[in-house]
This record gives sequence, C-alpha cells and structure tokens, in this order.
Amino acid sequence: MLCKLTYKNELRPGLFNFIIDCPQIAAKAKPGQFLHVLCGGSAYLRRPISICDAVDGRFVRFIFEVRGKGTAELAKAQPGQTLDILGPLGNGFDAAPGEGKALLIGGGIGIFPLLMLAKKLPQKPDVMLGFRDKQSAVMIQEFSNAADDVFIASDDGSIGFKGFVTDILKSKIASGAKYSRIYTCGPLPMMKIVADTAKENGIDCQVSMEERMGCGVGACVACACAMTDGSKKRVCKDGPVFSGAEVDFDG
Ligand SMILES: Cc1cc2nc3c(=O)[nH]c(=O)nc-3n(C[C@H](O)[C@H](O)[C@H](O)COP(=O)(O)OP(=O)(O)OC[C@H]3O[C@@H](n4cnc5c(N)ncnc54)[C@H](O)[C@@H]3O)c2cc1C
Ligand code: FES
Repeated sequence: MLCKLTYKNELRPGLFNFIIDCPQIAAKAKPGQFLHVLCGGSAYLRRPISICDAVDGRFVRFIFEVRGKGTAELAKAQPGQTLDILGPLGNGFDAAPGEGKALLIGGGIGIFPLLMLAKKLPQKPDVMLGFRDKQSAVMIQEFSNAADDVFIASDDGSIGFKGFVTDILKSKIASGAKYSRIYTCGPLPMMKIVADTAKENGIDCQVSMEERMGCGVGACVACACAMTDGSKKRVCKDGPVFSGAEVDFDG
C-alpha cells in the first residue's frame, strides 16, 4: 500500500518519528501490530516497525531507530513522499486484561508499541520504562498522560532509578502491588525476567517478540521463535505477541 509521509521529526539523534496518512491501516490497527516498510526502494528488504499509534482513523505513527542500511534509508524519506507499507500485520496485544489495573513494561525501542496499548486499555495502567540514559529517554510525558503511574529506570541513573526496570517490577510486587496482566516489549533478557516474575506471582503476561524477518506474512519461517512445548512459531504471523509462559527464552 502506498502511504504519504505527512510528518517527520527526529526525537533524538538517530530516532525518527513518522506519521503517515493511511486510513486503510489506521482503521484496522491494534496495539502491538506492526508495519512492514519498504526502505529505500526494491534493493532492500522490508523492515518491521511497530505501530506506535493510530489517530483519527486516518493517520498512523511509527518511531524507529537507525540500526543499519534499511532504517538509514528510511530515515531519508521526506514529508510528501510516498512509502510502500504492508500492514497492519501480526496479532497485537489483547487489550482486555480483565478486572483490575494492567502493568506495561518497555525497554529501549520496545516502548513504542506500548503507547497505543496504554491509550486503549479500559483502565489507565501503570507503566515502567527502561532506558540506557537520560539522552535516550523519550515519550515520558505521552506515557504519563495515558498512565496512572510511570516509573523510569536507566542503566547509569541519569534519569529515574539507577538499574533495570525489572528491579522496579520486583520491588513493586514485593510491596504488594496487584496487576491483572503484565504486557512487555523490549530486550530479550528483560522480557525473560518479566515473564518469569509474572509466572512466579500468578500474573498473566503478554510479551511482544522481536526477530529478524523476511516476508513478514508467514511464508518463509525466517522469524521462527522457540516455544516451551518444543514447537516453533512465526513471530510475524503467530505473533509478535505471545503469552509469556509459552515462549522459550533460552531456545
Ligand atoms: C515486530 C517488530 C517490531 C519492531 N518495531 C520496531 C520499532 O517500533 N522501532 C524500531 O526502531 N525498531 C523496531 N523493530 C526492529 C527493526 O525492525 C530493526 O531495527 C530493523 O529491521 C533493522 O533494519 P536495518 O536494515 O536498519 O538493519 P540491519 O542492517 O538489518 O541490521 C543492523 C543491526 O540490527 C540487528 N537487527 C536487525 N533486525 C533486528 C531484529 N528484528 N531484532 C534484533 N536485531 C536486529 C542486526 O543483527 C544488526 O546488528 C521491530 C522489529 C520487529 C520484529
Ligand atoms: S518473516 Fe517470513 S514467516 Fe515470518
């Protein structure tokens, strides 16, 4: 689908916020689904990028960090230009967590799909965000608007708690906080600790997995992810969201 890039800005060096005009995607988008974006013409593969928000049934927002060739090419796009995008793809989060407050835990680029989820949940959630340092910390005000409480952690302590976001999770649970479900997206070691902590405390947990992709639509199995029952599931088609209990984080 060809979608016009209507707005672009750089949130911090190398981190781009794009808004595209695409009613077909905006009308269907669910939190946790992703776009498969053609970067720089047919010489490159598509790259998966999470839907960060869908606005007015017309505009779709996504935020991406420049990592390699594909995202570097995409970062050169200018407002007015059309982008070739497939989506919305994948299953997305189940935004009905049952009675009580949900908790959203994001790390690094994993925070982006959680904003739309925070806005869609029936009750404002608590949100825990982990960053490398103060310079990497973005979107805190937007999460604050959509959340009940926001807790920040950074590796070097330059913003919020010094340490891992999972340390905040453990201390909140130890102090008696109750959550109906935990949703998480971010680095694998972080999501593993979140999923284990949820399991130990009998809390339902949904994790959004990141794998390198080929086709993005279930045809090539490039994105296979190991499950605890020994099977493999496709992150693009069966996921990217899975139950924390079903993913084999060591597989
Ligand atoms: C479902 C999904 C949603 C995503 N959402 C976002 C998002 O909202 N914002 C964002 O910035 N990024 C997101 N990503 C990651 C993004 O797709 C990769 O950063 C991008 O594909 C890198 O492409 P490239 O050509 O720039 O880099 P490449 O040249 O392909 O790779 C550069 C480096 O990044 C590593 N890498 C590439 N892709 C991945 C991957 N999928 N997982 C782990 N490491 C990888 C490579 O090993 C290499 O070291 C998402 C990935 C998935 C699977
Ligand atoms: S990327 Fe081809 S099956 Fe998932």
